[in-house]
Amino acid sequence: QVTAASGHTVVLVDQSDEILKKSTKGIEESLKRVTKKKFADQPEAGAEFIEKTLKNLTTSTDAASVVHSTDLVIEAIVENMEVKNELFKTLDKFAPEHTIFASNTSSLQITKMANATTRQDRFGGLHFFNPVPMMKLVEVIRTPMTSQRTFESLMHFSKAVGKSPVSCKDTPGFIVNRLLVPYMMEAVRLFERGDASKEDIDVAMKLGAGYPMGPFELLDYVGLDTSKYIIDGWHSLEPNNPLFAPSPLLNKLVEEKKLGKKTGEGFYKYK
Ligand code: 3HC
Repeated sequence: QVTAASGHTVVLVDQSDEILKKSTKGIEESLKRVTKKKFADQPEAGAEFIEKTLKNLTTSTDAASVVHSTDLVIEAIVENMEVKNELFKTLDKFAPEHTIFASNTSSLQITKMANATTRQDRFGGLHFFNPVPMMKLVEVIRTPMTSQRTFESLMHFSKAVGKSPVSCKDTPGFIVNRLLVPYMMEAVRLFERGDASKEDIDVAMKLGAGYPMGPFELLDYVGLDTSKYIIDGWHSLEPNNPLFAPSPLLNKLVEEKKLGKKTGEGFYKYK
């Protein structure tokens, strides 16, 4: 959405036409929200903005067949290294020489993905934040193999889509998640110990620390499955780090498929 809205040609790829239809509808809804604010007193300009953005966007279920015309691939699939590497290996065969590959991973090592391809110097991380149309930040991740040219292209691209980039080495969680995820897990542990209710913890962090959402609201918003993937991955890397300890409550909710806002229930229920 933000790439198309900033005048770039985008092919959105997913596994089925049904998912793509749902995604396109979501983009249309989000564009309406953005337009309402951006073009408050210019409904015609707003309608033109939506039309132009949607014209920049096509969809496909076959990544290998569309990658030949891309300058940049941004992968945002399931947080599973094997699945990601499988995709990157395939795309590497069909993408032009100059094409840069980037992952939007929340917590997995970019270096390992780069090593699955033959373009380690043209590989980096582009980590966006939910909800992407609203959040101004992008973390640009460079591995020891990312070339200066690739790094500069990723920084330039981030600015061209209207974001403010920061750079970070390829370390677990980069900047934001390295701080945010242990904080959210500490909130779950506080609740698990019975020290405070989840409602009070959320109110406390909103009114006492000025956060726009409390930790439980944010966990539900990000998705409990995503949060579990992140913490389980770090726990396996550093089993003795108490900040990375898994939570029985989080595990139970994921097992029950209560994944947060997207499934209608997580720590809270949604209509
Ligand atoms: N698309 C377009 N516009 C959107 C939107 C979307 N998906 N979601 C919200 N908005 C707009 C609304 O239309 C509204 O616009 P308005 O000011 O013109 O009315 C504005 O954002 C504010 O929305 P709401 O009034 O509905 O609610 P809030 O004031 O609470 O704002 C929020 C919503 C921007 C999501 C805010 O609560 C927030 O900043 N929350 C914290 C988000 C956060 O921490 N994100 C990072 C998560 S970590 C992550 O993503 C990393 C990953 O790796 C795990």
